[in-house]
Order: sequence, then C-alpha cells, then structure tokens
Amino acid sequence: MTQASANVNIMIKAARKAGRSLVRDFNEVENLQVSAKGPGDFVSRADMRAEEIIRTELTEARPNYGWLGEESEEVPGTDPTRRWIVDPLDGTTNYLHGLPHWAISIALEHKGQVVAAVVYDPAKDEIFVAEKGSGAWMNDRRLRVSGRRDMIEMIFATGVPFGGSPLLPKTLRDLAELTPRTAGIRRWGAAALDLAYVAAGRYDGYWERGIRPWDMAAGLLLVREAGGFTGPIQEGAGMFESRSVVAANPHVFETLTGIVRKS
Ligand code: IPD
Ligand code: CA
Repeated sequence: MTQASANVNIMIKAARKAGRSLVRDFNEVENLQVSAKGPGDFVSRADMRAEEIIRTELTEARPNYGWLGEESEEVPGTDPTRRWIVDPLDGTTNYLHGLPHWAISIALEHKGQVVAAVVYDPAKDEIFVAEKGSGAWMNDRRLRVSGRRDMIEMIFATGVPFGGSPLLPKTLRDLAELTPRTAGIRRWGAAALDLAYVAAGRYDGYWERGIRPWDMAAGLLLVREAGGFTGPIQEGAGMFESRSVVAANPHVFETLTGIVRKS
C-alpha cells in the first residue's frame, strides 16, 4: 500500500515474524504425519509460539491496547477504546495435515470498529492489508471485489462445520440450495483467507456460521475496503455476537444473504 500508518507497519512486522516461525515448524509437520502420535501437540506448540511472537511485538509497540486472541484470555487495555484481535494460525487443520493454506490474521479495533487489518499467507507469500478509508491491498496491488453479476458464473466459499457441530444441517441445506445455481463452492479451511479472497475478487462471496471474531475481524475490513458488502446471517444481529457472516460483491450480496437466511 502507498502509505501505511504506524499501526499497520507494526502489524505487518508482527505477522511476518510469526510467519517465519510457523514456516519453520510447518516443514517439521510433514515429517510427523507418519509418527503414531501424529503432529497434534507439535502444532499446538507452534500455534502458541506464533501467538507469543505477535503478542510481544504488538504489546511492546502499543502497551496500552487491549488483546483478544484465539489462544489466550482476553486482556482489556488501559486504553479501553482499542484492542488487537488476533488469530495466530487460521487454518489449523490444514497446517496439521501439511496443506499449505493457512494464515495469520491481525485486526485493530477502535471504538468497536475494525480500522486496520493484516492477513498474511506465508506459504504463498501473499500479504493482504487494509485500513479504514484507505482501501485494501495485496503485496502492493490494490484490491477490488469481483464485478460478476450472474450467479451461475460465481464461485463461493464457506466453512462446513465439523466435529458433530449442530450447525451442520443448516450448512448442508445452504449447499443443496446454492451448488446448482453457481459455478462452484469451495471449502478451503481458512476463514481469514476466504474473506481475503473475496476482497481480491477470487471468490465472489463467502458465508459461514459458528465463526469467531479472530477468524473474521481482519477479513471483514479487507472485503469492505475492496468495495464488498458484509453482514450477519442472523437478521438484526452483530457478526461477532451471532458468530455468522456473509461477505460478497455488491451485486450478489442480497441474494446470497437471502438464500442462507432461509436455511
Ligand atoms: C477455522 C478455520 C475454518 C473455519 C472455522 C475456523 P482455525 O479456524 O478458519 O476455515 O471453517 O470456523 O474455526 O481453527 O483453523 O483457527
Ligand atoms: Ca481461526
């Protein structure tokens, strides 16, 4: 991006540093697939290490901001208006299985609104950055959501709940309704990247239930700053509170929201 703010530079530095640590550990994960115990414990340690790196970088630079991270307790800041919302490793299942599709997601919230976002995919060396009012960028290229209008030409992403989640039947109903009307649905396993890809115009839309603030905070700003729309699946609710999200290009946002609301 042309002129990143001091906060965005701090976020990029933290994401890249954690990325280096996660890449080193990822190379080890492949070797562990064949062991009887599997790479589970190793990956949770890699995840915690990444969170620690990000936390140290961010809190050293901005000691008064609050903290909400996937792997630790929420810590309120002495500045109650600002907090970091961090997922040190989004796409953990992919990482665990040696699939190179995972990311670090860092958002900065001010007075309840996300104002800066960084989503970093070290395996592809793609860094997605947005600042409220200044647009969204990927490796210095300005991002725009797709301009497609016909649903039959569109690709959508979602997350399919796993582990016996009660949300599964609704998602299966969404898939039954949407699949025949589109060019395809993807489940790539990293919500932060799903949203970043909507911002980049790679996906035309994305929806998911049972998703947490650290999965979506940075990605939502990327989509909005790239000209896309975002909203909750549950009518009248907040996205963080209802743990649900729809994000899409402006031409299909209402249609997609209407379809998934019916499930
Ligand atoms: C998960 C991924 C996945 C989404 C889940 C998330 P994690 O995050 O983003 O794509 O479907 O809802 O929990 O556990 O890999 O950080
Ligand atoms: Ca996540």
